[in-house]
Amino acid sequence: MLQSFRAKELPKVEEAMLTFIEEHTSNQSLAESMAYSVKAGGKRIRPLIVLTTAASFSNSIDVNTYHVAAALEMIHTYSLIHDDLPAMDDDDLRRGKPTNHKVFGEALAILAGDGLLTGAFQLVSETSLESDKQVLLVQLLAKAAGSEGMVAGQAGDMAAEKQQVSLEELMAIHRAKTGALLTYAFVAGGILANQTDYVIEQLQKLGEHIGLAFQIRDDLLDVVGTTEELGKNVGQDAKQEKSTYPALLGVSGAKEALQKELDQATQVIEELKEAEDFDSGLFQELIRLFAL
Ligand code: IPE
Ligand code: IPE
Ligand code: MG
Ligand code: MG
Ligand code: MG
Repeated sequence: MLQSFRAKELPKVEEAMLTFIEEHTSNQSLAESMAYSVKAGGKRIRPLIVLTTAASFSNSIDVNTYHVAAALEMIHTYSLIHDDLPAMDDDDLRRGKPTNHKVFGEALAILAGDGLLTGAFQLVSETSLESDKQVLLVQLLAKAAGSEGMVAGQAGDMAAEKQQVSLEELMAIHRAKTGALLTYAFVAGGILANQTDYVIEQLQKLGEHIGLAFQIRDDLLDVVGTTEELGKNVGQDAKQEKSTYPALLGVSGAKEALQKELDQATQVIEELKEAEDFDSGLFQELIRLFAL
């Protein structure tokens, strides 16, 4: 069910991102650089969550939903371009291809990130949603992406290199750098499906558990995964002496922490079954994507 849902719905997100870049980028090299990282693909997990969440409550996914999902993926793609820069993680492989700065140079890579970030807000602000819903989606996206969300988490990640941090501190970094955007995906899906405050609260909780799980899994894959399956170089975290779950807890401790978050996420889905019109089918499948 999830596989056919993904095959049917994700191309519309793809198209929304590429059309936006094509229509709203007046410099050709910049457009190429932005489109390069978008076209490189990736798992598209964040837009998939937006669409899955909206579809779990109502069967109608409309053009606005695709545009919000596309905006979120544009912000995520920008975060990866900047994350790979020499000043940050200094990586040369991403989504199975040379990183943006390796192909276009650092200056254009920085600007491609800037373009994707700014464009994301333009895209949400140009939807035909009712204005209060639109403003809320823009505001929550800014909070999730910005200096109390992903950007703050990235600053924390850089500061924690070569440092001994506590599990609480590491959890806070992971929640911000990765959890915030993933949480937004669930919450935005609920807002787009006109859900109650209670449901939105549950989706927020679900997003927080999945968000933390996702970064623990990413940390683990850097140790136990392969470059071929991930499309990025493995062993980078140890090389840069990053603070990670496996570094702090060992591989088996990190796996336990991952499972704990997934069990809590499953618990939230059980509670959501009380909500009106909620069909848990897609979520049951979705959650398996986060296991190792
Ligand atoms: C990688 O994200 C960065 C993290 C937040 C862990 P993804 O694993 O979602 O990367 P893509 O989009 O599939 O390339
Ligand atoms: C990146 O975390 C999180 C972002 C906000 C981009 P990582 O640095 O662990 O992501 P990868 O492993 O390079 O994809
Ligand atoms: Mg990083
Ligand atoms: Mg990185
Ligand atoms: Mg990583």
